[in-house]
Amino acid sequence: MKIAVLPGDGIGTEIVAEAVKVLNVLGLKFEMEQALVGGAAYEAHGHPLPESTLKLAQQADAVLFGAVGDWKYDKLDRPLRPEQAILGLRKHMGLFANFRPAICYEELVGASSLKPELIAGLDILIIRELTGDIYFGQPRGRRVATDGHFPGAEEAFDTMRYSRPEIERIAHVAFQAARKRSKKVTSVDKANVLETFQFWKDVVTEVHAQYPDVELQHMYVDNAAMQLVKAPKAFDVVVTGNMFGDILSDEASMLTGSIGMLPSASLNTNNQGLYEPSHGSAPDIAGKGVANPLATILSAAMMLRFSLNQPEAAERIEVAVKKVLAQGLRTPDIYSAGTTKVGTREMGEAVLKALG
Ligand code: IPM
Ligand code: MG
Repeated sequence: MKIAVLPGDGIGTEIVAEAVKVLNVLGLKFEMEQALVGGAAYEAHGHPLPESTLKLAQQADAVLFGAVGDWKYDKLDRPLRPEQAILGLRKHMGLFANFRPAICYEELVGASSLKPELIAGLDILIIRELTGDIYFGQPRGRRVATDGHFPGAEEAFDTMRYSRPEIERIAHVAFQAARKRSKKVTSVDKANVLETFQFWKDVVTEVHAQYPDVELQHMYVDNAAMQLVKAPKAFDVVVTGNMFGDILSDEASMLTGSIGMLPSASLNTNNQGLYEPSHGSAPDIAGKGVANPLATILSAAMMLRFSLNQPEAAERIEVAVKKVLAQGLRTPDIYSAGTTKVGTREMGEAVLKALG
């Protein structure tokens, strides 16, 4: 089992270090190799995703990823910005299926900005298509407009597009995931306005014919954004395109109280995967030892389950995380009165101890 460890920038290095410690005490044999990515790689090699890092990732069974980005790189040309590393890994590894669970832990109900009764027991799974849509669609760029409201004016444009196979494969992923849960899928689109998402809706409906045991509901993305804060527990599996999934998964993460708790998995057709916390590099708290390592530790659990075929080890980690929460240990992002505030390393150590 070969794991490429890419801590990245900001809090990435601190939180990945804790996840690596956890992986190392499971009694399993891993080959772990670390490489630079994002701003750190740009500093050292002049590129956010150096050839050597991409190769390492492609040759591994799984990638454990921290986070990339810092405000200081915002002025770089787009291809050199840290975010391009994650987009490049998704593209070159074909990581089309992004799983973003939003689970509200009982102990953290009070940390959400929503009323406890709305989110207690929340357990939804957002499945975001990750290699298509307006994120990767060509053509894109800047030019002088020849039509539209202001012919002759400078304009910018991107292309939203999805092919049938791209929609079919993510729909299959969603229906199959739903079969292991409560057998309900909400497909989120904007079919009332966009040709791309009318097609999305049509293809998802066709694929659904192969899953008569799963209930399928269609919802426009604006309504989905509203329903997510109105009655989040009405959702189970949500499947959507790249851009809508980006937005809705951030919204869903906040229902749970802290984005610091949410892992994610991005898989290709070979179950090779990239595992990362749903949060970013948080440059404002980087190096202070206060970042919450639990999302990364839980991402390592997802890695064991999805790419490394070690479900028992995954379960052990998840149980250990619940234990430390029950013990009242909290990093500042999930702290509330009456609990014990701890730093990144203490939290990681508590998980190690709880693993037994
Ligand atoms: C995410 C992030 C990325 C995205 C950025 C960093 C490119 O927001 O993983 O959700 O937009 O996909
Ligand atoms: Mg995002």
